Amino acid sequence: MKRILSGIKPTGQLTLGNYIGALSHFKEYQDDSEPFIFIADLHALTLPIEPEELRKNSRDIAAFYLASGLDPKKATIFLQSAVPAHAELNAIVQNYLYMGELRRMTQFKDKAAKLKETAIGLGLFAYPVLMAADIILYDADEVPVGEDQSQHVELCRELVKRMNHRYGDILRMPKAVVPKVGARIMSLTDPSKKMSKSDPKGDIFLLDDPKAMRKKIMGAKTDMGPTVTLDPLEKPGIHNLLTIYASLDGISLEEATHRFDGYRYGDFKKAVADKLDEVMIPFRKRYDEIVESGSYREVLRDGAKRAIEVAEKTLRRVQEAVGLLVV
Ligand code: AMP
Ligand code: TRP
Repeated sequence: MKRILSGIKPTGQLTLGNYIGALSHFKEYQDDSEPFIFIADLHALTLPIEPEELRKNSRDIAAFYLASGLDPKKATIFLQSAVPAHAELNAIVQNYLYMGELRRMTQFKDKAAKLKETAIGLGLFAYPVLMAADIILYDADEVPVGEDQSQHVELCRELVKRMNHRYGDILRMPKAVVPKVGARIMSLTDPSKKMSKSDPKGDIFLLDDPKAMRKKIMGAKTDMGPTVTLDPLEKPGIHNLLTIYASLDGISLEEATHRFDGYRYGDFKKAVADKLDEVMIPFRKRYDEIVESGSYREVLRDGAKRAIEVAEKTLRRVQEAVGLLVV
């Protein structure tokens, strides 16, 4: 069966971008593939974070995974830090990726630019190495992610090529799967910027109450011209709202544009806010129930057991291939 692997790092409150670009797609695989979906908590340590916040965010992501419809009987849901093989494989594969390659990563450049040279942790620089280890460990065929992560998956492919060339075909070649609509949701206040957890202006958070979500949609920056048309360059704000609507409704961008053809902005925004209510209110209710019941704990414990089994096998295979003495 096809293996799927993806993760989200618990660095802040999840946004509508995370939901549309990644989270909402994971369940689509569980009936005909084998998804491994994890909480990238080791990756969350690559920028300073309060211990209590990290713990709360990790729990939240577990609850969000379940609330999004992932079924723990079909998908393996776990914490990255609960599977030691991630760190162990990381220690091996770091030798097959190069400083020059890591320095070129857009995410590293963006994040490092906001820090003093002396405050850039080694982990931030080596972030894609650990991510490659994550992917390789589960022999993943497909990695569903938003667009910003596809460069990291490309680097992982390079690593697989390199190691397979050197040691024979020991690793499965993964590929990034980026959604056709919604791979890059933009900020509502500045549609030239990505909606991101570390940049809260113009974000919709999954834990915002419905009123706050509506207010942000109604206040979203729109463009010149009174009515809705599809024009990513001239109308990036409207394009972003059409993308949000289309993703949440499961239709194409063209269909969404057709549906709102000639609408005035105010009426269109109201329809987007209604759609958001329709999806987010029941999602939030499921999240609350899961957090309240604590059912995510057992899911994570069982998930780790299953993940360890699979990951250990791959780790062993790599250890043997590179010449570590396995006794
Ligand atoms: P992160 O928040 O960086 O852990 O991202 C988790 C997942 O959400 C990754 O697959 C990202 O590519 C995706 N993602 C993050 N922000 C956005 C966005 N604005 N639009 C679409 N996908 C996103
Ligand atoms: N880097 C991803 C992000 O920020 C999270 C992540 C870590 C991930 N390891 C992964 C995603 C492996 C896919 C596969 O969104």
